[in-house]
Amino acid sequence: MIDIHSHILPNVDDGAQSFDDALEMLRIAAQDGVIRQVLTPHIQINRFDNNLQQLTKLFNLFCKIVATENINIKLHLAAEVRITPDIMTMVENNSLPWLGTWDEQKCFLLELPTNEIPAGSINLIHWLRSKQIMPIIVHPERNKAFQKTPDKLQTFIDAGCLLQITSSSISGGFGRQAKKLAIELLNDDKVDLIASDCHNLKYRPPNLSDGINAAGKLIGHSHAETLARPAALNLL
Ligand SMILES: [Fe+2]
Repeated sequence: MIDIHSHILPNVDDGAQSFDDALEMLRIAAQDGVIRQVLTPHIQINRFDNNLQQLTKLFNLFCKIVATENINIKLHLAAEVRITPDIMTMVENNSLPWLGTWDEQKCFLLELPTNEIPAGSINLIHWLRSKQIMPIIVHPERNKAFQKTPDKLQTFIDAGCLLQITSSSISGGFGRQAKKLAIELLNDDKVDLIASDCHNLKYRPPNLSDGINAAGKLIGHSHAETLARPAALNLL
């Protein structure tokens, strides 16, 4: 499996708070069957003021430490980018951390706030698509506005966004509404990816196989497995 969304890179956001925890999370992910783990720290202005340059430095250091451990997992760096008009500047400065390509178009993880859809969001999506950039909306099932009005999410799908749902959502770990929307999206074949979005060892550990198994019960196991290694995706 490939896990495209995690907060394992230590000391940069609300994910792993030490190198030891980060290494233990990686061990758990590897045991769970993950062969490629993408580290995707938050980039959110005024909350997690990370940038590609500083994250790359830490990523390189972390890779050196991981190489001294016996963990069979390949690491990649990207980010979970909170929606903001500054994304346009990041694209123009070439400082947006790409996940890789999807059907040969550059793609990245885009996060909306939990409670709303900011004004202008769809305009940003159109701008990105006009540049052949594929936004992957992370955990739309957890957004209150999408839960209330799933048609609003359809607007983003129609504009060309991809959707990533989170493992724990399918089994109810993020509440009934998130579970309901996750199941609906899976049944309607609107999910492109499932990821762990793991944050720590205790409450949000690496658990991608749980999500794939839960999805398998709804859409069939062979289909569910493709959501953890989509053929269209090439990691950076
Ligand atoms: Fe995340």
